[in-house]
Amino acid sequence: MDRFLTADDLAKTLRRDVRDGLTGTPKTLPPKWFYDERGSALFEEITELEEYYPTRREREILVARAPGIAAATRARTLLELGAGSGEKTRVLLDALSGTLGSYVPVDVSGDFLEEAAAGIAADHPGLTVRPVVADYEQHLPLLPGGERRLIAFLGGTIGNMPPAERIGFLGGVRATMSDGDFLLLGADLVKDAGRLVRAYDDAAGVTAEFNRNVLHVINRDLDADFDPDAFEHVAAWNAAEEWIEMRLRSVRDQDVRVGGLDLEVSFAAGEEMRTEISAKFRRDRLDAELGAAGMEIAEFWTDRDGDFSLTLARPSA
Ligand code: AVJ
Repeated sequence: MDRFLTADDLAKTLRRDVRDGLTGTPKTLPPKWFYDERGSALFEEITELEEYYPTRREREILVARAPGIAAATRARTLLELGAGSGEKTRVLLDALSGTLGSYVPVDVSGDFLEEAAAGIAADHPGLTVRPVVADYEQHLPLLPGGERRLIAFLGGTIGNMPPAERIGFLGGVRATMSDGDFLLLGADLVKDAGRLVRAYDDAAGVTAEFNRNVLHVINRDLDADFDPDAFEHVAAWNAAEEWIEMRLRSVRDQDVRVGGLDLEVSFAAGEEMRTEISAKFRRDRLDAELGAAGMEIAEFWTDRDGDFSLTLARPSA
């Protein structure tokens, strides 16, 4: 396994993110810290909820379009950014088996990566599986090169980036691409606000627990004393920005001590701290943002209900 990111780098980034986020106005925390072991398990649970449609819809598109993706790309290398658990990866790997020589799952955490990679290697003899621990916002130029690469960024995770960061990220991806390479991008689409909010505020409260998990992570890794039960889950549709925001709302006036940062922060009753944005797209916006990054859309697919999208993009002519 290649490591461009050490546990020490991650610890430093967490410290900086939490210090910046808790001392800013309004307070914020970045969504990347949801995903320790418990957070990843909670996210898996979310993907099975009735209200959370993106995972099912994306899989529906992948299953329908995998042969088309294989025919258009004839990919030799599949690079998967934010590889996660890899269910959808299998659909792609099977469809690409005629041309594919190597699979490179990329994730910030090596914990799940090695195990998932071993499983995939066992099921695909002859495929070179080379996991890389890297931050895809930082280490894109260091990822393996080669001809006919398919870079997959699935799940709608692009929506976690605010617009400026998105443009930078897509530009960074484009900068690593040569002719013959493709980007496969999963993006959730703008739809009825009620459905969107329900997808991020499920009746069983799994998303609420996932949201509060960031406080457990900070308590453990930065020796803090957040009382997670003193924060309520909020999911709101921001119609102007076309994104869902998750927030944690302090139920009372409270002080929190973050021992590892030697920091005290106060929350007022009702104060809200943003923990995630999950942007929803229209084809026009994807077209414009990919275009600004020097890419063009080769194929654009949605599921039957038009809930979610998969875009296959390539360097502009
Ligand atoms: C994994 C970033 C795609 O934004 O829908 C799920 C994370 N947050 N429920 C998303 C998430 C709340 C998810 N992504």
